[in-house]
Amino acid sequence: MRNLSKTIFFSLLVIFAFAGFANFVVPQLQPAPPPKEEVLDLSAMTMDQFVALGGRLVEGKGTCTLCHNEVGGRAPPLIEAVALTSERLADARYEGSASDSESYLYESMLEPSAFVVAGFGKAGSGDTESPMPDVSGGSIRMNEAEILAVIAYLQDMGGEEISVEIPEDAGAAAEEEEEDGEGREPFATVEEILDEFTCGACHMVAGEEGDLGPDLNAIGSARAHDYLRRAILDPNADIAEGYEADLMPDDYGEQLFAGELEMLIEYLAAQQGEP
Ligand code: HEC
Ligand code: HEC
Repeated sequence: MRNLSKTIFFSLLVIFAFAGFANFVVPQLQPAPPPKEEVLDLSAMTMDQFVALGGRLVEGKGTCTLCHNEVGGRAPPLIEAVALTSERLADARYEGSASDSESYLYESMLEPSAFVVAGFGKAGSGDTESPMPDVSGGSIRMNEAEILAVIAYLQDMGGEEISVEIPEDAGAAAEEEEEDGEGREPFATVEEILDEFTCGACHMVAGEEGDLGPDLNAIGSARAHDYLRRAILDPNADIAEGYEADLMPDDYGEQLFAGELEMLIEYLAAQQGEP
């Protein structure tokens, strides 16, 4: 007991000593007014960093590699897009308005149907309609700075001189991209989950018009919970008839929180089609 009160007394002494020191000895800092406007030093972003940002966007937010990858064969390889530009522009079917690789890549991302690479059009469209979504809209929603970063990356990959200039808001795009990569909080609604994991780029679901996978608007009347769970966690376990294997990403199990997976399954199970 004596020891305890000694300890307490000593602790209080130490606390008072520090408090006194802080109050009377250390000069008080005047809180500085917050800076009026955050000034981003844009000259600080080098072309190398801009290109690297583009590379991360292709795999991350842009979800380009969902379709443009080695396995699926559902989209042409992006690395060749620059080298093939002149061939595309000279194609008799070309009706777009691009004149060089920068404008062709730009057009390809915002108006995919302006020119559809032969053999890659939507089924039955005779290569007039592209299954690729406009990357500035829908669930991908890239802004201008992000699109330019992707173009810089593709030009660099394709071994061409980079013609895009680093835009003013590149710093903000890079910052946002960095935040996206950090650990995240679980999403609260199923709409956010569908949006973030771009299910609608490939499926008709929640108003999106994806065309590479089965229509999910009535999936609940055809498939039970267990099937839906397996379809998300292990897409190649059952291949929906008429669709290709190896196309749906197989790492949702690692990316989704358990509660999010349950929300998705409940949502899909409730999709009974048009009443
Ligand atoms: C849902 C699948 C899908 C996604 C996601 C997608 N693409 Fe595509 N993309 C395609 C398909 C299919 C084609 C071929 C048909 C066409 O020409 O539009 C294509 C064509 C292209 C072309 C023209 C290629 C050429 O050889 O002429 C470019 C460039 C391109 N995509 C860039 C991108 C970029 C960059 C992203 C990400 C920001 C992206 N795509 C996301 C499916 C997709
Ligand atoms: C890159 C395209 C792509 C994306 C992105 C994608 N899917 Fe798929 N999905 C497919 C394809 C192709 C199939 C059909 C082949 C198969 O069964 O694996 C499929 C099959 C399914 C099936 C089974 C349908 C059936 O009738 O058997 C479900 C359920 C499903 N996807 C849900 C989702 C959900 C939920 C997401 C988002 C978290 C998602 N998919 C994202 C391409 C995609």
